Amino acid sequence: MEQERLPKITVILHWVLASSVFFLFVSSWWMLSLPLPSAEFTYRVLPFQLHKNIGITLLLIAVTMAAIRIAKGSNGHPKNPDRLQKLAALDHLIMYFLLAACCLSGYLSSSYSGWETSFWWILNLPAWAQENDDLNILFSGLHLWSCWALLAVIVLHIGAAIYHGIADDGLINKMFRL
Ligand code: HEM
Ligand code: HEM
Repeated sequence: MEQERLPKITVILHWVLASSVFFLFVSSWWMLSLPLPSAEFTYRVLPFQLHKNIGITLLLIAVTMAAIRIAKGSNGHPKNPDRLQKLAALDHLIMYFLLAACCLSGYLSSSYSGWETSFWWILNLPAWAQENDDLNILFSGLHLWSCWALLAVIVLHIGAAIYHGIADDGLINKMFRL
């Protein structure tokens, strides 16, 4: 079945977003296994900065994609969605929400940790407040749980993509065609 076309920019941003999220999940557990920073061990500094830079960049990408979706209305999406298509739209909405929750909780946790965030080593972002262990732990926990929730929704999303691939209904071609 011929599907409506998504804007080219959505397709490009989707794959940048998906690969960045994948990289953050895979690299974060390795990053946390490095020794805590000290005068002797500074291995963590670079991977943490990289994690934060990629995270903030992907938040900007997700906001752009959501804005395009709102601005273009049903362009590339069905005008009269059936039940499954409504479910897909809900899946996208939850993914956008959880992407924002992951990035904001990560940024707040980092702000309260006392470490600076230098965006791509160029722009020093403001820390919300002074170092605060309790708030750091709180936002760190929120970061972990929002990331697990995001992973669960992504698994559903990829499962749905595989289902459409097997059904050969042309839907996944939307994300593979510029
Ligand atoms: C970390 C992984 C991924 C994330 C965070 C992600 C995120 C998203 C988001 C936010 C949308 C909505 C785009 C819009 O607003 O128009 C979307 C759509 C879509 N994604 Fe993904 N995606 C991921 C992986 C994948 C993979 C691996 C595939 C295919 C094998 C895929 C296939 C699709 C398709 C076909 C659509 C369009 C669905 C439709 O319009 O109904 N995604 N994805
Ligand atoms: C979608 C985006 C993001 C994903 C998927 C992600 C994923 C993760 C994961 C899985 C961990 C390991 C958690 C644990 O085992 O405790 C982690 C840790 C961390 N992330 Fe992210 N992250 C994202 C965005 C961000 C952003 C934007 C920042 C900051 C600007 C950030 C800062 C941190 C920090 C400081 C840690 C280590 C301490 C902690 O758990 O809070 N993350 N991240």
